[in-house]
Amino acid sequence: KVDEILAEIESANASSQDELEQFRMRFISKKSVVGELFAGLKDVPNDQKKAYGMKLNEVKQAAQNKFKELIDALESSGSEGAEQHGDLSLPPAGVGLGSMHPLTYVRNQIIQIFERIGFNVSDGPEIEDDFHNFTALNFPENHPAREMQDTFFIERNPDILLRTHTSGVQVRLMTNQKPPLRSIMPGRVYRNEAISARAHCVFHQVEGIYVDKNVSFVDLKQTLYHFAKEMFGKDTKVRFRPSYFPFTEPSAEIDISCQICKGDGCQLCKYTGWVEIGGSGMVDPNVLANCDIDPEEYTGFAFGMGVERITQLKFRVNDLRLYTENDVRFLQQFKTLH
Ligand code: PHE
Repeated sequence: KVDEILAEIESANASSQDELEQFRMRFISKKSVVGELFAGLKDVPNDQKKAYGMKLNEVKQAAQNKFKELIDALESSGSEGAEQHGDLSLPPAGVGLGSMHPLTYVRNQIIQIFERIGFNVSDGPEIEDDFHNFTALNFPENHPAREMQDTFFIERNPDILLRTHTSGVQVRLMTNQKPPLRSIMPGRVYRNEAISARAHCVFHQVEGIYVDKNVSFVDLKQTLYHFAKEMFGKDTKVRFRPSYFPFTEPSAEIDISCQICKGDGCQLCKYTGWVEIGGSGMVDPNVLANCDIDPEEYTGFAFGMGVERITQLKFRVNDLRLYTENDVRFLQQFKTLH
């Protein structure tokens, strides 16, 4: 029997901690078969005790040696496993940090410039109703100006739409607060346009409004001059071109001197040296009245500009689609922005 146990010990294997523990229980612990053999020693006749005892010690020693061997084998196979998964003690490979989206950067810059001259930031819903997007802004019903905006209507209800500009936030602001009001409204807007390098169905605006007693066109011009020079540098020229918007009178388009060719002529400015960055004007008295502000007492100016266009001028992005494609080769170029 003792020889059988010895043979069992010699041939034992352990490929897991569980099996190692089983070996320990069976051959090493107090209640192991080896322990039982020792317990039986007292029943062995005296003349055989010595030889039998030596034999048992041999078995005990063999069990302990084997146990050590099994532990070592298991450990080294463990480190082989680690090799398969790479060296677990190495520091982890760096996770690439993302970069700020250029539109976010430029929007933040615009906000900072206006905040420094006393404008706060207002927000409103991207899903708008007809009243805030059109009617309160003096768009007559069935007026072609509504079509100018290529509106996305939601379902069949023509009253609910994706805002085509952030001017609806101006309406909300003027109906909820009384002048003096000085606020800008950055946000995403939607128009049903075919997507190309120069047009997109979703883009970003920052609009602004200033309503108080005696606000004049001079204030409008100075504010936008200030903005252009802060944004693009002291030498930037600004020009206003007469225009039409239902919600402003008079209205003007805002052009700045082309930042790409500096007047020498390029595709972006179509060889005119000027690039349009937005629209502006004095808030139409009808709009003030629609928002319960007395146009006899208050006047105001408003403006709106395209964040994509300003970003294009700052970073020479020549295709609007790049902003939304999330191509890392594009985004990585803005790593230094913060
Ligand atoms: N809401 C106009 C647009 O999206 C821009 C604008 C705002 C023009 C305020 C004048 C005054 O085209």
